[in-house]
Amino acid sequence: MHLTIVGCGFVGLALARQLQDDRSHLRLTLTTTSEERLAELQPLAEQARICDATDAISLKQSLRDAEIAVFCLGPKGNSQVDEDGYRNTFIDSFHCLTGLLPQLPQLRQIIYTSSCSVYGDAQGAWVSESTPTNPSNGHGAVLVESESLLLAIDQPQRRVCVLRLGALHGPGREFKDRFENLAGQTMPGRGQQFTNWVHVDDVAGAIRAAMTEMWSGVINLVNDQPIRLAELIDRTLSSEGLEPIRWGDDPKPASSGRRIRNTRLHALGYVLKHPKPTF
Ligand SMILES: NC(=O)c1ccc[n+]([C@@H]2O[C@H](COP(=O)([O-])OP(=O)(O)OC[C@H]3O[C@@H](n4cnc5c(N)ncnc54)[C@H](OP(=O)(O)O)[C@@H]3O)[C@@H](O)[C@H]2O)c1
Repeated sequence: MHLTIVGCGFVGLALARQLQDDRSHLRLTLTTTSEERLAELQPLAEQARICDATDAISLKQSLRDAEIAVFCLGPKGNSQVDEDGYRNTFIDSFHCLTGLLPQLPQLRQIIYTSSCSVYGDAQGAWVSESTPTNPSNGHGAVLVESESLLLAIDQPQRRVCVLRLGALHGPGREFKDRFENLAGQTMPGRGQQFTNWVHVDDVAGAIRAAMTEMWSGVINLVNDQPIRLAELIDRTLSSEGLEPIRWGDDPKPASSGRRIRNTRLHALGYVLKHPKPTF
């Protein structure tokens, strides 16, 4: 089987590493937009290629033999906070992909790592894949549009699987890395909003299952336990022996976030390696 991973950042690299056990029956192509990363990716794959997915020629070269394409690309640098950067990364890349499809007859599955941010703020309610999307900002709206572009090309002979990821944690992005600088600080609000997390090993594991079992449609990819922000930060700081955070007054009404259901993920038979956050 020939697989191309477009975008080998935190998720793509974790997936490539997990797939090393399958190398005997897998021809793996990894992509990066930067020359400097080729040496890091090359040992993990049949080939590592420069590919900007918004460029038809390089995307076609990267997907030329791929039966499965995993898109775990994300905006680079400052574009992470810039809606235009999101649009350029996701929408332009997926327009490019859809334009290339007639030239990629061997492609039988497309997997895309989207985000639970497409649900917006549900005032603390539970949301599932059947809950209508309601993004709270332009970034989320771009992700909804990206999903729609891909879901529109789903066919029996070329399945599309959209995995809606919670916030990521794992080696290199541990809770302590995110929160230790908050020790002893005063933060507005009470931190009562729910957050939803998934360990990067589970993202890689679920993508692997999606490939082997040919998952399609939209699937939430989060652990079993939504956690209030205050509890997450308090437990992280306490386990590191750091001073607790103080919550202050916030003139704005607090958002309560949302709790993401992962019932479909379980129904598909995926067993989470990290079912709840550990500290
Ligand atoms: N991080 C989170 O907490 C989180 C939460 C929910 C959903 N997600 C979704 O998960 C995905 C992956 O997240 P991540 O944390 O692994 O992101 P990441 O570490 O930022 O990696 C994204 C990769 O995309 C590549 N890339 C950027 N622009 C590209 C383009 N035009 N064409 C091809 N490749 C391009 C970059 O490759 P090079 O740098 O090698 O050039 C980068 O390594 C994102 O789509 C994001 O929406 C992430």
